[in-house]
Amino acid sequence: HAAASTPGDLSGTRIVITAGGTREPLDPVRFIGNRSSGKQGVALATAALRRGATVTLIASHLDVPVPAGLTVVDAPSAAELHDAVTDAAEEADVVIMAAAVSDYRPAEVQDAKIKKEDVGDELTLRLVKNPDILAGLAAAARDGQVIVGFAAETARSDDDLLSIGRAKLERKGCDFLVVNRVGWTEGFALDTNSVLVLERGGNVTAEASGTKFAVADRILDAVTAPARAS
Ligand code: CTP
Ligand code: CA
Repeated sequence: HAAASTPGDLSGTRIVITAGGTREPLDPVRFIGNRSSGKQGVALATAALRRGATVTLIASHLDVPVPAGLTVVDAPSAAELHDAVTDAAEEADVVIMAAAVSDYRPAEVQDAKIKKEDVGDELTLRLVKNPDILAGLAAAARDGQVIVGFAAETARSDDDLLSIGRAKLERKGCDFLVVNRVGWTEGFALDTNSVLVLERGGNVTAEASGTKFAVADRILDAVTAPARAS
């Protein structure tokens, strides 16, 4: 049983991390997006790299710079992120879905800029659901492959957060779910984070607070523990 979080302890481990927030195009100049900065995902990639892992970062509109030494694949929209992570997962021991994936996309993408004079006083957008990438990865996982999801929830309490997290973990079918509370001010764009790591079945296997880098190391400890134990 190797000690956690020492330089090189993840050498030989291939980790794919999605980070940032997808943007769903409406027309050539507009999109529907979200407030994810990509900081926690990039912190995970940086920590994994420092510990010797081989890292592929699937990047969707990051607000932060990416360290040298990893493979970066740009994935601006949910559809592109789906294809990129599905492809990269074939060669991965661990896949971490830290990206905020848009649940819906515009049913139609206009080739030309939408003009007010063509629309009038009211504009109704029709959106269609995107595929659940995490659930797809979990359903297709190889033996021993670890699939990790993230859930940022506007829970009223820690108990509430835990029950929402457990239900989501079950629904996704993944091995771990990292949950944190968000609000208008908490979570996004900050340099700190506070998370619970739930394992398959719903037990809390780790709790971490601090800088997104410190939290990243604790998450990596938790999700690579099955591989260390074997
Ligand atoms: N996710 C995904 N594909 C989607 C939506 C989400 O892979 N179409 C992933 C996210 O990257 C994250 C996890 O699923 O790792 C949980 O995302 P979340 O938005 O919390 O879950 P949803 O199933 O979309 O539920 P909700 O209705 O609460 O948004
Ligand atoms: Ca969602």
